[in-house]
Amino acid sequence: MSEVRILIVGATSAVATEVARLYATGGAKLYLLARNETRLSELVEELGPSVVGSEAGDLNELDSNSDRVSRAIDSLGGLDIALIAHGLLGDQIRSENEFEHAQEILTTNLTSAISLIIPIANHMERQGRGHVGVITSVAGERGRPRNYTYGAAKGGLSRYLQGLRSRMYSSDVHVLNIKLGPTDTPMSAGHDKHALFGEKRAVARGIVRALAGRKHVVYLPSVWAAVMAIVRALPEFIFQRFGFLAGR
Ligand SMILES: NC(=O)c1ccc[n+]([C@@H]2O[C@H](COP(=O)([O-])OP(=O)(O)OC[C@H]3O[C@@H](n4cnc5c(N)ncnc54)[C@H](OP(=O)(O)O)[C@@H]3O)[C@@H](O)[C@H]2O)c1
Repeated sequence: MSEVRILIVGATSAVATEVARLYATGGAKLYLLARNETRLSELVEELGPSVVGSEAGDLNELDSNSDRVSRAIDSLGGLDIALIAHGLLGDQIRSENEFEHAQEILTTNLTSAISLIIPIANHMERQGRGHVGVITSVAGERGRPRNYTYGAAKGGLSRYLQGLRSRMYSSDVHVLNIKLGPTDTPMSAGHDKHALFGEKRAVARGIVRALAGRKHVVYLPSVWAAVMAIVRALPEFIFQRFGFLAGR
C-alpha cells in the first residue's frame, strides 16, 4: 500500500476517519476533504506526514467540487484511490413537508457525489486505472416510510455507479458501490441499536478490503447482503404489511 495516493471525501465522517487511519498506517499518501474545519485539522494532525494536503468546505457548494478534486490530484501528484463518504440522513418527516430539506438530502447524497465523481472518474479514465469507492446505503434498495428521501438519493447514486462501472468496463478503472447497513456512528445516534448494527472499524476494514479486491458491490456488515436479498424479493403487499420492515 506504500505511496498509494488516496483522496478521501467526507474524511471526518466516523467511517471515513477509520479508513484514513488504516491507509495512513499502511504508508499511503492522503488528501482529505471535509466540512468541519476543527475535526479536519485534528485528523490531519493525528495522521501526520501521511497527509499531503487537506481542504475544508461544504460539498453542497457544487460549483467548487471539480476544482477541489483538481487541487487534491495536484497535491497528491496523481490519484490511485478515491473514497466518497459524506452523507446526510436528514429528517424524513421534515423532508415530506419542506422541499428545501428534501433538496438538501438529495443534493448531499446524490448531486454533490456526482459532481465529485465526474472529475475523479474522468481523471482515472485518462490515466487508464484507479479505484473509486462510494458509500451508498441499503436504504437505497427499497423505499420505506422511515427514510425514503435519503433512500431515493442513495438508490439513484447506486444506479449511477452501475452505469459508470459499465462505461469503465474496458479500462482498468474499478468502481465500487459500498452499501452500508446501519452502523454505529453519529449518523445513527438516537437509533435503537440491534444485533445487525455495524461497528465503524470493522466496516472500515471491509471498505479497504473491497477496494483492494476490486469488488463491484459490497454490503457491510456482510450479513446485509442476505437480508437485502430477502427484502428485495418481498412483494410490495407483504412488505407493507410488516411494520418492522416498512415502518416509520
Ligand atoms: N451510519 C449509518 O447507519 C449509515 C448507514 C448507511 C449508509 N451510511 C453512509 O455512510 C457514510 C458515512 O457516514 P457515517 O456513518 O460515518 O456518519 P457521520 O459520521 O455522521 O458522517 C457523515 C459525514 O458527512 C458529512 N457531510 C454531510 N453533509 C456535508 C456537506 N454538505 N459537505 C461536506 N460534508 C458533509 C458530515 O460532515 P459534518 O461533520 O460537517 O456534518 C459528516 O462528516 C455516509 O455516506 C452515510 O450516508 C451510514
